[in-house]
Amino acid sequence: MSIQEVNNAWIYLDKGGTMIWQKGVSASQGVFQPIHWVALSRMQAELRLAPYEGRVADIGCGHGIVSVNLAWKKPRTEVIGIDPDETRLSIGRQLVEEHHLRNCKFQKGSIDEPGIEPKSCTGVLCTEVLDHIENVKPMLEDKMAKLMNLLVDGGRLIVSFLDERGVAEMGAKPPVILSLDDFAFIEDKVIDRNCPRWWYLFYVDKK
Ligand SMILES: C[S@@+](CC[C@H](N)C(=O)[O-])C[C@H]1O[C@@H](n2cnc3c(N)ncnc32)[C@H](O)[C@@H]1O
Repeated sequence: MSIQEVNNAWIYLDKGGTMIWQKGVSASQGVFQPIHWVALSRMQAELRLAPYEGRVADIGCGHGIVSVNLAWKKPRTEVIGIDPDETRLSIGRQLVEEHHLRNCKFQKGSIDEPGIEPKSCTGVLCTEVLDHIENVKPMLEDKMAKLMNLLVDGGRLIVSFLDERGVAEMGAKPPVILSLDDFAFIEDKVIDRNCPRWWYLFYVDKK
């Protein structure tokens, strides 16, 4: 992966494609826009569902794309991006510094060991992560319980993962292909139909 500053934009080159973040763009237009319009639509669908205040943990945040956009668009949140991959986290930290975001930070961790207190989050995002864990299917209930455990009562867990079409058309090769049926144990999930093709998106509000 290489990072370049070109004129007024950051460009990140990654195996998954090229992404660009524009400076000086108003919040309503969206900042840090990935070039890929489908990924942008997915992110917007996720951000729309996210709380507007309180602590929001983005578990498996990768390079922190969703985290930084969330922090920018919802300035009353305290966003914590968590990922086991320090190299990816360092990209998120650069974005935070570059864009002077005071309500976003990144730390090393995982679903099993997020490094934040239970019942401390108004929101938890876990987007395109569960399908990236080897042999996750028998562990799904345990992983979901760990994510829910981070929420205060009334908090919201937002989950997305690649659908069968995304895997086929994007040429992505996640270790596990999940479907909504794999989450049948969560009866009160709300499936968001605004998410573009290639992903499933749902949320669960903690009672
Ligand atoms: C495809 S990326 C998703 C990045 C970001 N959430 C998004 O929606 O664009 C998958 C990420 O999950 C992370 N990951 C893999 N296993 C994990 C685990 N057990 N807990 C948390 N994150 C994990 C990887 O390091 C990687 O950054």
